[in-house]
Amino acid sequence: MTVLVTGGAGFIGGNFVLDWLAQAQAQAEPVVNLDALSYSGNLETLEAIKGDRRHHFVQGDIADRELVSRLLMQHTPRAVIHFAAESHVDRSIHGPEAFIQTNVVGTFGLLESVRGYWGDLRGPAREAFRFLHVSTDEVYGSLQAQESAFTEAHRYQPNSPYSASKAASDHLVRAYHHTYGLPVLITHCSNNYGPYHFPEKLIPLMIVNALAGKPLPVYGDGRQIRDWLYVKDHCSALCRVLEAGTPGEVYNIGGWNEKANIDIVHTLCDLLDQMRPRDDGQSYRRQITHVADRPGHDRRYAIDARKLHRDLGWRPAETFESGIRKTVRWYLDHPGWVQRVQSGAYRQWIDSQYGVSA
Ligand code: NAD
Ligand code: DAU
Repeated sequence: MTVLVTGGAGFIGGNFVLDWLAQAQAQAEPVVNLDALSYSGNLETLEAIKGDRRHHFVQGDIADRELVSRLLMQHTPRAVIHFAAESHVDRSIHGPEAFIQTNVVGTFGLLESVRGYWGDLRGPAREAFRFLHVSTDEVYGSLQAQESAFTEAHRYQPNSPYSASKAASDHLVRAYHHTYGLPVLITHCSNNYGPYHFPEKLIPLMIVNALAGKPLPVYGDGRQIRDWLYVKDHCSALCRVLEAGTPGEVYNIGGWNEKANIDIVHTLCDLLDQMRPRDDGQSYRRQITHVADRPGHDRRYAIDARKLHRDLGWRPAETFESGIRKTVRWYLDHPGWVQRVQSGAYRQWIDSQYGVSA
């Protein structure tokens, strides 16, 4: 058996592939990893599985139907786990087009290829097949301070071009189940953090800027709230949904960790003060700078993950305190990964280290 992962050189997809191959040693279920290697795709993240025969990397676009159909026929996966996306809200504000192309048009192309493949499957292979669509809590919009956390029944109200494009992809995936019977699963996860996170997002940006002596740019008043989940807990939840989720169902994924941005930044500064004190003995908090707010900034996200716990028995392994400490440790221990991402050298590194094939 094989699974096809899209976007498996990105932050969450990369962690998923690493964890999948680490946990499935006995079964050795191979992964076909299709990733276009956009700016956020980094094969250096997959260094630990370089040469592992169970990992078959293919550089390509999810919208390339000929390529995707060929991969499906060649590898006959029992599941597709779809991570590939443009994922950064700020980039979607500056340039929404790429988000429509990959998240909407790309997901549509992928669905068409998968529909053709699944339509030709027979018997147990057809029964067992799953298309797992990895979506986000941002499609639900923004919560007021006193509102209850998002359940799976919450109305869609995406506010950024990014979340609107993810919402559109969710609707397509849902429609392919309703119309064609494609056995889909949709998940909505809250904000992830952990190893290999591209340093344009809040947590890794604050860590690397702090260490570089740069300002820590907090948008607006910094009181916006996000609900944080350690990336490996997201990956374990996806494995559980893939294994036991009911086709056509939607599952929220979260760890009940609502935090204001400014509190996250303070926590990171305090951890760095302990783990890598500044040369001048001052706190990293001195580097905090309030900057202009993000246009249309969602005030609060919070995920109600009770369904996943109740129906599938999943719960996260990390608390925020343990996960954030591991994350800071990881960045302190991997300055080369950060440096090559920041300089752009990870692209040359890919060329020199890997034979990338389509
Ligand atoms: P990321 O930006 O780190 O990774 C995205 C990956 O997709 C990259 O490797 C990139 O090269 C690849 N990709 C982009 N366009 C492609 C295309 N057209 N064809 C093939 N590959 C392409 O993103 P991430 O943070 O790892 O997010 C992964 C998924 O999880 C996304 O769908 C995102 O919406 C969702 N999600 C993210 C979070 C989060 O906190 N980061 C939370 C919930 C859901
Ligand atoms: O909620 C899930 C979503 O979380 C995912 O779907 C997205 O792919 C992922 O990027 C993330 O979106 P956010 O916009 O919440 O994440 P980001 O790290 O960009 O920002 C987190 C919060 O921190 C947000 O309120 C904006 C703020 N922020 C961000 C940056 C980069 C700052 O204050 N300063 C910054 O420099």
